[in-house]
Amino acid sequence: VKPQIFTGIQSLKEALAPYRLIGKTIGFVPTMGALHAGHARLLEVARESSDVVVTSIFVNPIQFDRKEDYERYGRCLEDDLRTCEDAGVDLVFAPDISEMYPDGASTFVEVHGLSDHFCGSSRPGHFRGVTTVVSKLFHIVGPDLAYFGEKDAQQLAIIQRMVRDLDFPIRIVPVSTVREPDGLALSSRNIRLSVDERKLAPKLYGALSAVAAALSGGERSAKAALSVGRRILDIPGISTDYFDLADPDTMQPVATIRDPVRVMGAIWIGGTRLIDNLLVPFLGGADATRTVGQ
Ligand code: PAF
Repeated sequence: VKPQIFTGIQSLKEALAPYRLIGKTIGFVPTMGALHAGHARLLEVARESSDVVVTSIFVNPIQFDRKEDYERYGRCLEDDLRTCEDAGVDLVFAPDISEMYPDGASTFVEVHGLSDHFCGSSRPGHFRGVTTVVSKLFHIVGPDLAYFGEKDAQQLAIIQRMVRDLDFPIRIVPVSTVREPDGLALSSRNIRLSVDERKLAPKLYGALSAVAAALSGGERSAKAALSVGRRILDIPGISTDYFDLADPDTMQPVATIRDPVRVMGAIWIGGTRLIDNLLVPFLGGADATRTVGQ
């Protein structure tokens, strides 16, 4: 069955109201389109765990820190609608910019602290743009559950904090990263890679995995563990933006490992920026406290 498509906020709200009235759970997958198998996985999890599945397709201009990235961002509504149909999406919300940001829009939502490092420092204003649009979408859709990919781990942590701090009555469901067979995390930006660049791209996953293996294998020095990964990325064609350990909830760089950590990486390959991360469970006992010296 083809999903119903809405471009207006009011008409979407009117279409959703009867479902809410009869107690159906509404699951929401916000996207910027250019849907790939990672999004399909989000939609699949939503389909399994919600009665009504809503997805939004909106390339949010205020979360792009570079004009060129915004302009190059994939837009293929026909393909995206087919993906939605295949995934059993019930309603698609595809507003234009003026519907989301009427003239004079001047209110922003900002999550402090969690946005300070990693992508937050590399892409000024990015997370403010994300939290602002996601707040708006949450108010428009009013979901019971909302699904976010772990590939954007910092975004996920920030949304979880925002939902807690602002009392959104929504459960955030994290969904595992989908990878190519060689480990490359699926991303709408992967199609920008040339054939040669594509060959380099799995190095990011390789570097993250090497750090995860070192930590799991009992490496006590996180500095040493990170250096194993950094060496893998230190090759012509790759420029590292950041490569560090983060607390998964606070998104602060980790000094002493006492809990699970996320190994976080962002690299440039030519004009394309790729990010990825791995969660490493904390295996150590009292004697396994490791110190990070960066
Ligand atoms: O992850 C994304 O695709 C975007 O950041 C989101 C959550 C749809 C907000 O524009």
